[in-house]
Amino acid sequence: MTPTSAVPTQRDPFVIHIDGEIVYANDPCLALFGGRPPDAIIGSSVTAFVAESSQQPLVEQFEQLSTAQATALGLAVELQPPNHEPHDCVIMSSPVDWAGERAIQSTFLDVSTDATAEPVFTRALDDAPVGITVADATAEDTPLIYVSDGFCRITGYDRSDAVGRNCRFLQGPETRSEPVAAMREAIAAEESVTVTLRNYRADGTMFWNRVTITPIANTAGEVTHFLGYQEDVSQLKLYEHEKTLFEKQADAAPYAMFITDREGSIEYVNPAFEQLTGYTAAEAVGENPRILKSDQQDDSFYDELWETITAGETWEEELVNRKKSGELFRVKQTIVPIQNADGEITHFAAIERDISETAFTGQVLDVINRILRHNLRTSINVIDGYATLLEESLAGTEQIDAAEAISDRTRRLHTLSEKTTHIRNLMERRNKKQLTDLSTILSYIECSRQEHPEAQISLANTVSDEIAIKNGSLLQLAIEESIENAVVHKDDGQPRIDITLSMTDDPPQLCIEIADNGSGIPQAEWDVITANQETPLRHSSGIGLWLIYWAITALGGTVELARHGSYGSVLTYRLPVVDPTVVDA
Ligand SMILES: Cc1cc2nc3c(=O)[nH]c(=O)nc-3n(C[C@H](O)[C@H](O)[C@H](O)COP(=O)(O)O)c2cc1C
Repeated sequence: MTPTSAVPTQRDPFVIHIDGEIVYANDPCLALFGGRPPDAIIGSSVTAFVAESSQQPLVEQFEQLSTAQATALGLAVELQPPNHEPHDCVIMSSPVDWAGERAIQSTFLDVSTDATAEPVFTRALDDAPVGITVADATAEDTPLIYVSDGFCRITGYDRSDAVGRNCRFLQGPETRSEPVAAMREAIAAEESVTVTLRNYRADGTMFWNRVTITPIANTAGEVTHFLGYQEDVSQLKLYEHEKTLFEKQADAAPYAMFITDREGSIEYVNPAFEQLTGYTAAEAVGENPRILKSDQQDDSFYDELWETITAGETWEEELVNRKKSGELFRVKQTIVPIQNADGEITHFAAIERDISETAFTGQVLDVINRILRHNLRTSINVIDGYATLLEESLAGTEQIDAAEAISDRTRRLHTLSEKTTHIRNLMERRNKKQLTDLSTILSYIECSRQEHPEAQISLANTVSDEIAIKNGSLLQLAIEESIENAVVHKDDGQPRIDITLSMTDDPPQLCIEIADNGSGIPQAEWDVITANQETPLRHSSGIGLWLIYWAITALGGTVELARHGSYGSVLTYRLPVVDPTVVDA
């Protein structure tokens, strides 16, 4: 607490003192001490305002607090304020930071007044969401003899409703018996206790109350009062409930996830986080996520991150992090601010998707693509040019055939190098999110039909107009490839391709069957693809089949190869359909 922040936060009379000397007294306290100007109070000793018998125990408490043996202590004393009759009072003291110095704040709680009497202490509305209560330990059934304004605000009860009663009147039908028993036992044993339990406001609404009860002894060491702190922690409870639900899901999530508090201190990490980063939950909790920081981003990157999330917005970026082992890894990170019902940010939830592999694959593909498309194509063109020259200038049939064979092979090489462009397309299209309706799917087939006028392409469709699939551009790629495959692999006669669109019910799937009269895809080639692995001994000859397989599986679908009737091969795609009214486009 600093001098400026101390002043407006508490309205019960209090003083701040260092080494027993008062350095600050708030207005209610100045009024309590006889309406004197601050100068008359500042510099005097707190003990000057209490009966002689209370002075020594009070000094001992201050010593305990300044040597950090306790965080809060209370003492029932007789207060002797100037211009007032002596009063029974409880002094609550706790250490505070006063402009960088360790000081003690002592608050005077008036426990001498009954509910109807005019209070001696000046009190004003207190904004803090904490209630303070004092109960008489010597009276039958420990009745309350003091309640603060904070208590009245939290509970909705007037002071006159509360004083004189045992505080159990806050309990109700859903208050659990365990915390109540814990309080009962602690009070009987004259010990401190903190419990969180369901209490009820004057209007009958439930709230979660975190209650701390501390025994207060008099100068003879006898417990005369119990001091109670009430804190409405309903929002915290709600958050804990939601957090438990979140953690249950996050525990099984395949992505690294963690939650920090508003200051960025990690409160929870899931098992995938431990696996990805190498930090165990025990090592990560309490740390700032900067344990993952690499030197690959500059300060302005992190400034922008904090600016975004503290403004309540979601932040999504790729960045390079560092594992516990020192190894760098690339992630796509999403940070979502979590707000309470009042719109205040209380936590941040982060999801990290490891994209090191994807980034690496992307780079490799770029390089292969560049080499194949530019370097290889240039060489192919040169070879093709010379082969044509040779064909024209050579005389012998054998030599002409050889030159033609060179031309033919170079053209095939050229087509192959063009195909690699499609791999890049596939990677890029994978991330698209838009929905594709039936008419668009039909337009893909129409496009291919126009591209291959030499083929006879028929279409049979029994699918209703309402269906949609995700990211049809991948399906477009698969359809184009399948049709081209069929056309290319028809050695003689006209290529015929029969396409059938239908629906299956359980699960609802769009079925696209593409049957051709070509030479047929060799089963061995297809097996390599469905086993998803090329080995030196088993490899498929073309890129086209791979493209079809990758595109359909990226859509969450399946591809089957069959050979029946007069057809060379029949490819069947089965694709999940989505309800266009539900899915986000
Ligand atoms: C100072 C003080 C404050 C208390 N504050 C609360 C409270 O806010 N909510 C509550 O349910 N019980 C509170 N209690 C506890 C009840 O008064 C009571 O001790 C508890 O219900 C167990 O006793 P019983 O089994 O006789 O009811 C407080 C007790 C004391 C002495």
